[in-house]
Amino acid sequence: MDKKDEFPLFKIFPKLKKIPRISINNLPTPVERMIRTGKILGDSNVWIKRDDLTHEQYGGNKPRKYEFVFADALKKKKTRLLTMGGIGTNHGLATTIHSKELDFETHLYLIDQPLSQHVRENLLCHHYFGAKLHLVKNEKGRNRKMRFKNFIDRKSYFIITGASSPLGTLGFVNAGLELAEQVEQGKIPEPDKIFIAAGSLATCAGLILGLELARLKTKIIGINITSSNEYIKERTLNLARNALEIMRKNDPDIPNISSRIDGRLTIKYGYSGGKYGKATKEALEAIVVAKQDGYKLEYVYTGKTLSALIDYSKNNPKAKEEVILFWNTKSSVDLSDIYTNYDFRKLPAEFHKYFNGTIKLDNNL
Ligand SMILES: Cc1ncc(COP(=O)(O)O)c(C=O)c1O
Repeated sequence: MDKKDEFPLFKIFPKLKKIPRISINNLPTPVERMIRTGKILGDSNVWIKRDDLTHEQYGGNKPRKYEFVFADALKKKKTRLLTMGGIGTNHGLATTIHSKELDFETHLYLIDQPLSQHVRENLLCHHYFGAKLHLVKNEKGRNRKMRFKNFIDRKSYFIITGASSPLGTLGFVNAGLELAEQVEQGKIPEPDKIFIAAGSLATCAGLILGLELARLKTKIIGINITSSNEYIKERTLNLARNALEIMRKNDPDIPNISSRIDGRLTIKYGYSGGKYGKATKEALEAIVVAKQDGYKLEYVYTGKTLSALIDYSKNNPKAKEEVILFWNTKSSVDLSDIYTNYDFRKLPAEFHKYFNGTIKLDNNL
């Protein structure tokens, strides 16, 4: 865990120390060259940012956001966290695991999603790590139930999907500044492009701000992994501007960069397979490529992101002259000992249908 003074966001803007934050991650995460992947792509200069290693119990991009979101809940003296997702949500699992250390009770409001082995594994882990599970029919029902619980329970704190609030975004502003430090220290050449998964959007939004504040030339290529194509860039920029507002409220000397961030972000469509969680042939191939460098990816986020990088690199002659950074956002901690030995019958009865054959595994996943 870092000291407050070593956290780049606070080191550069000390007045922001007023914003509550708890240190839970192993930062900075390493940057490494993907030598074999680069060779396969015809001698491209490809690097990886190892956010899979943010935490030894469960890494990935989420815990960076929790440093601010959980601190806000603690400041407000809340003891129960309410959040939501599909039954196999990574965010729900990450919230459950990290909140445990802080003695929060986590409630997950879950909706159906196509059933894969990975979804089953996460569902078992939600329960193993102590989440209170609530199965809800659809988003409308879920929002109603959560709002009601939040209204009557004064100790509860609501976390939006993926913890992608303006406060959560600050975790990735810091990540952008952290990368700039690594460039300055010579650990990685200044990237021309970062390829990164875009879901609930705080990851991209924070990085844009961090890179702009650090004045790196790096552009962000956000890979849409959802089925929605609507206003993703606009929503990301809005989130970035809301996060910037929090920062400038605490430190008015921070430059108002909101009109400069537009050109930094491109959202790429066409890699999701049209559906959240669908395995594409290209993502599965990208997983095999990354394995040659010793990295374990998955097909929902990181495989699709690398598939977009491979596509770009193969089809743009100028890519060979660029430094391209693949940002690994998925935890690589192996939880197989837990989910292979955990009996699904310990879960509330309404969840048994996902394990006892009533609902079949989706063979396309
Ligand atoms: C593993 C992983 N990578 C990337 C993302 C995308 O990050 P964000 O939701 O901040 O856009 C998510 C969540 O959606 C995720 O679980």
